[in-house]
Amino acid sequence: MSEARDPGNVEVEPEPAGEPPRGIARGDRVHAFSTPAITVTWSRRRCIHAADCVMNLPTVFEPGRAPWVDPAQGSADAVARVVARCPTGALHFVRRDGGAEEPVPATNTALVARDGPVYLRGDIEVRDEAGNVLVRDTRVALCRCGHSHNKPLCDNSHLAARFRDPGAVAEPAKVEDAPVSAAGLRVTAEPNGPLRLAGPFAVASADRKTLVAGTATALCRCGGSGNKPFCDGSHKRVGLRSE
Ligand code: SF4
Ligand code: FES
Repeated sequence: MSEARDPGNVEVEPEPAGEPPRGIARGDRVHAFSTPAITVTWSRRRCIHAADCVMNLPTVFEPGRAPWVDPAQGSADAVARVVARCPTGALHFVRRDGGAEEPVPATNTALVARDGPVYLRGDIEVRDEAGNVLVRDTRVALCRCGHSHNKPLCDNSHLAARFRDPGAVAEPAKVEDAPVSAAGLRVTAEPNGPLRLAGPFAVASADRKTLVAGTATALCRCGGSGNKPFCDGSHKRVGLRSE
């Protein structure tokens, strides 16, 4: 995706003691594109997916143009609708005209992509190996292949790694029901281990034909599990390095 001219770059510095603003990953740098009605922010680092925005609103999202995001080329409502479809959370918006902000989904879903990441939607909090909040967001793409340079977030490395997995969800026994107090879903990246999910969720297969609901599980992020998308301990054999 072409970065082109950035009418209002915003650099978000890492805050070791604090938490990053909602929708922005710790230490990330986002580019802002504004009209009087709406500001769109875009993270190059979280953008992996050359489809949804460009396909759905090509006048606004045009790779190669300067700037590649021009919200003046569409209505604020249309821009907001397409931004909210971005599956990785690379795009966000703030309405400046009093229009509705993006709602937080009432349910948390984890969609396992064929040959790709797991896409989370909902009230999501991702914590890093040290237990710090990495991002709070409605949309997050998490690495499943073990090759991302931006773990636990996906950076499209599954393409170069030729990661292959049909995205099936086969083993409900790997999902537990545990007492939960909040409706949010917390994802914790274990050091050299899986992604631990805590909170209400439904895991969906890539073809959306299988849906497994629960409140606690561990998702594979080394690419080696024989029971994907769940962890089966293979990360020790594979030698997953979470850094
Ligand atoms: S929809 Fe999101 S991840 Fe996909 S190309 Fe657009 S900004 Fe990037
Ligand atoms: S993270 Fe892949 S098997 Fe545990």
